[in-house]
Amino acid sequence: MTSKHKRPLPKRDLSLIDPYQQGKSVLENTVKPIKLSSNESSYGPSPRAIEAYRSVENALFRYPDGAQHELRQAIAEIHNLDIDKIICGCGSDELLGLLIRAYAGEADELLLTENHFIMCPIYARPQGITIVLAPEDNYRINVDSILRMVSDKTRMVIIANPNPPTGVWITGREIKQLHDKLPGDILLIIDAAYAEYVADDDYDAGFGLVDEFENVVVTRTFSKIYGLAGLRIGWAYCPDHVIDTLQRVRSPFNTTSAALAAAAAAVRDVEYIKSIREKNTSSLKKISSSLTAAGLRVVPGVANFYLASFAGVEGKTASGAAKYLESKGIIPRPVNSSTDDALRITVGNDAENDAVITALTEYMSNRDG
Ligand SMILES: Cc1ncc(COP(=O)(O)O)c(C=O)c1O
Repeated sequence: MTSKHKRPLPKRDLSLIDPYQQGKSVLENTVKPIKLSSNESSYGPSPRAIEAYRSVENALFRYPDGAQHELRQAIAEIHNLDIDKIICGCGSDELLGLLIRAYAGEADELLLTENHFIMCPIYARPQGITIVLAPEDNYRINVDSILRMVSDKTRMVIIANPNPPTGVWITGREIKQLHDKLPGDILLIIDAAYAEYVADDDYDAGFGLVDEFENVVVTRTFSKIYGLAGLRIGWAYCPDHVIDTLQRVRSPFNTTSAALAAAAAAVRDVEYIKSIREKNTSSLKKISSSLTAAGLRVVPGVANFYLASFAGVEGKTASGAAKYLESKGIIPRPVNSSTDDALRITVGNDAENDAVITALTEYMSNRDG
């Protein structure tokens, strides 16, 4: 029997899930705003990546290489990794989603830290997975606090290192301590989307743990330092049995020919990436000292964004600052809407950063907030 009043319902109440909010990109009355809301690279990709992207135009009628061979080969060579442990995805978020769906289900727990990548709960909730959050120490991941939250229902721990919204990171030693104390049947995923920005010897993205153990995965992206966010391409380094699982559940052509070609050229242009990292580091230094001088607190991170905090500054709020920045054609990303005390702002090019410094300095010295 059919009824006109019936309609199909999703398997659980998905209306309870807040959809992902993309960083704003349009401003009324501003033709070309300075978009600093999504941690994209203002420098764009390597010219070699653009050339490689164009080189596939005559083959667009063909399916891409489902085995992703050229890109996996380039990643393996540059990072000195086992090619058979590499898999590429439509952004690293696709791979995180596949991993969550493959390794956790109804009544299982996914353990994240307080400031996590927002797509993780969005992927987990429709599966009936419970999200557990481990507190951080002033935006820094705390290994003991994660270990305290592990229960017999925990199937997976995901940490972002460096971690938005500050770009603060934990050392390879700390990650090892975390791994040492996790039961072997819990999958530890290290989301290293901003790894290329870190130049410190104590940082370790975690590839060695993947080679040594059966329960560690590292995810990486071409959306950030490589400047290829629009092509949607990321990758993961996984133990063989995890690769085997992901190969069974991914779509056969999840990465386009244009993305595969551009990313392979991008990863081989090591000098270009080094130059972007150096520019980013010196921009962060200048931004941090200028905004601190203006009376703001900048949480010291290393990635291509920073957290500007207005906490404790009388009469100043994140929403007030965002409004002022937007009036100058600049789009930041508000965080912590309940406390209204911080903005996450992407590091831009020199002119963009100067515009932010000028606007925030004006906002801070402005008497009426
Ligand atoms: C911490 C973190 N992980 C993963 C991603 C996903 O990146 P993509 O899907 O573009 O590879 C992002 C994107 O902003 C991120 O901030």
